[in-house]
Amino acid sequence: MQYGYFDEKAREYVITNPNTPAPWANYLGSPDYGAIITQNAGGYSFVKSGAAGRILRYTFNQFDEPGRYIYLRDEETGDFWSASWKPVGKPLEEYKTECHHGTSYTEFVSEYKGIRSRALYYVPMGATHEVWAITVENLGDKPRKISVFGYCEFTTESFYTQDLVNMQYTQFITKTEFHDTFLLEQINEFNYPNPDGTTGRERFFGLAGAKIASYTGRREQFLGRNRFDRPQAVLNGKCDNTLNYNANPCGALQFSLELGAEEKKTAAFLLGQKTVFEAKKIVDRYADVEKTVAAERDELIRYWHGELANLKINTPDNNFDAMINTWNAFQCFTTFVWSRAASLIYCGERNGYGYRDTVQDIQGIIHLDPELARKQLTFMLSAQVHHGAGLPLVKYTHNAGHENTPDDDSYVKETGHPSYRADDALWLFPTVYKYIAETGNVAYLDEEIPFADKDVGTVREHLKRAINFSMTHLGPHGMPAGLHADWNDCLVLGSQGESTFVAFQLYYALNIMKEFCEDEPEYVQYLDEQAAKLLKILNDKCFEGDRFVRGYRDNGDVIGSKKHNEANMWLNPQSWAVISRGATTEQAEAIMQTAYDKLNTPYGLEVMQPSYRHEYFEGARMRLFNPGTKENGGIFCQIQGWAILAEALIGHGDRAFLYFKESSPSTFNDNADLRVIEPYVHGQFIEGHESPFAGRAHVHWLTGTASTVMVGCVEGILGLRPTPKGIVISPAIPSEWDGFTMEKVFRGKKLHITVNNLAHKEGNPTKYILNGVEHAAGLILESELQEENYITVVM
Ligand code: GLC
Repeated sequence: MQYGYFDEKAREYVITNPNTPAPWANYLGSPDYGAIITQNAGGYSFVKSGAAGRILRYTFNQFDEPGRYIYLRDEETGDFWSASWKPVGKPLEEYKTECHHGTSYTEFVSEYKGIRSRALYYVPMGATHEVWAITVENLGDKPRKISVFGYCEFTTESFYTQDLVNMQYTQFITKTEFHDTFLLEQINEFNYPNPDGTTGRERFFGLAGAKIASYTGRREQFLGRNRFDRPQAVLNGKCDNTLNYNANPCGALQFSLELGAEEKKTAAFLLGQKTVFEAKKIVDRYADVEKTVAAERDELIRYWHGELANLKINTPDNNFDAMINTWNAFQCFTTFVWSRAASLIYCGERNGYGYRDTVQDIQGIIHLDPELARKQLTFMLSAQVHHGAGLPLVKYTHNAGHENTPDDDSYVKETGHPSYRADDALWLFPTVYKYIAETGNVAYLDEEIPFADKDVGTVREHLKRAINFSMTHLGPHGMPAGLHADWNDCLVLGSQGESTFVAFQLYYALNIMKEFCEDEPEYVQYLDEQAAKLLKILNDKCFEGDRFVRGYRDNGDVIGSKKHNEANMWLNPQSWAVISRGATTEQAEAIMQTAYDKLNTPYGLEVMQPSYRHEYFEGARMRLFNPGTKENGGIFCQIQGWAILAEALIGHGDRAFLYFKESSPSTFNDNADLRVIEPYVHGQFIEGHESPFAGRAHVHWLTGTASTVMVGCVEGILGLRPTPKGIVISPAIPSEWDGFTMEKVFRGKKLHITVNNLAHKEGNPTKYILNGVEHAAGLILESELQEENYITVVM
């Protein structure tokens, strides 16, 4: 079943049937003022923290309620409906509706009994309040009287768990007030107010562009004994002008419209955590509501479409284009900015940035906005401990140079992270490389950045210390010790356990570092020797002919060997053997073939097989999950990106694209009931073949999948591989494609690229034409590029 479509011109996903198998969400604003909104206007808002700064209530994992509700009521008949399908939920035969999820805005366009409504929800650029602009239009030739009610449900306390569970306290600390154009919620009003009487804890719900006809600040008065589909106030045709004192606060405002034939009017509900003075100013700003809303909407669209403009592809596969041009890209920005802060799955309780996740997230936006990426990269480098390891959790309040670390009890107590992970700092190498390659800013390596606890060093020095950390934490075979975990959170290898995956990451890092330290011959020699040594160990101790094993346990037992009954084949050691260039051509062919044979399903590659059921060890914590789920044999979506990249690097365009297609959300657009979550965003995992629900996806939006699949598609399938000196363009595409085009802005220069595949190959292009002149395969130097470049790649 299909519930919507990609409108690539507008860069929107348009939901035409709102009765989707799960809430399909969008993100508004930023974590400074964040809002999540679903196709039924469910969702919540928060200031800075989803858990500690929550201003709107939301009941997770239930009925997608409450939300940002706008009710419309025909004053002559008493009939009422909502601007989004739910909460009222009129029969869809009579009620026509579209939910347009766009880049940082969501708009509902609905028609019912001759009235069209447009409800546009957004957070203005850089602002910390939200706008619900509502336009009501009389489509008929007779005048109509329509009442509009806006409703939001405030939390009683910023800590959402307090609001939910500590009701003997939180119900009695809040009240609401009415101030002509808005309702104000007070919390702990008399607890040390500022000299002007404000506390900074106030929230407001206001109206601009229309006069408030009635209000209530108390949920029980708005709903009566009913639920959101039949609020008593809407049934009555007015709110009773009551306020809250010791009950549940809400914002409910009514205004009345008289619309002549074909007439329309716009007003805006406004919401935020603001003092009485700030609220008044915000409402005043929307005096010319139509103009202000139109300008703010344009500004948002200009910004976001600008962020997505550096790469535009046009291939024979529209679903691929929609993901790369808009949705995967927008998701990359979302994970980049929001990390794992808040979604309909994450309640906002993470108290910082995960090191590896964040450094990986950065990779997803480098091809679009490398300078934005650099800021966060510099921040993450400043969260490296002086000995080179990454802080497993980087606090939101991170203060470089002054942080405690897993070596301090205080850090462990505060964050719950008792030790370092083997992989964290190794993610820096590809990320720094990609940034420098995209921009040519080699000087970044000399930029000085503090370490988290003490010392300052150049970026190059930070990377050297990361290598040193790995080299001083080797296990008995000479591979990096697993420490608390490697990429796989569920694989606790212990201080002497060893990870093949991390060994390949280190091998990759050593080679990248050789490029970064060209004028230090002794160090390059050291790197060379260590890389060769490591590769030999990997071949001697981890290669089984058709696969690399997963590693070694603390006690020396091998993990992921073909001699095992369970978990005998793992994807990551294979894809990383290829990505790191550690595997020979023959090895690469063999191990990626085994991956296909043993792990592939119609919905992507499973993380390992068979799932752990009986033959696990203590550190194999994935056994806690049902087989075919998450790290226990599920299709972990993040690692599809690495498989796509690996296949593309060895010229297997057909397989690279197959892996994209199998697991891409857009593939499920016409089979959305199977996938359940949004067909425009990646989730963390898809249930594997051992699950009775194979193909069902989970943990929407905030996942490392966004960046790895983006990198797999851009560097792998599209073959756009910048290097510090220029760019290599080496697509690996489905052989059935006749070709495709792409436009890329590279270091400020425009590349118009046409890939010609009339030979129906899947990789390794044979001929290049740069601005009319034949060019050797391989690197195109930056110095060879003009302002506008026409490049033909013949496969
Ligand atoms: C989750 C975690 C990530 C980890 C992955 C695999 O996505 O956020 O850090 O690498 O699971 O365990």
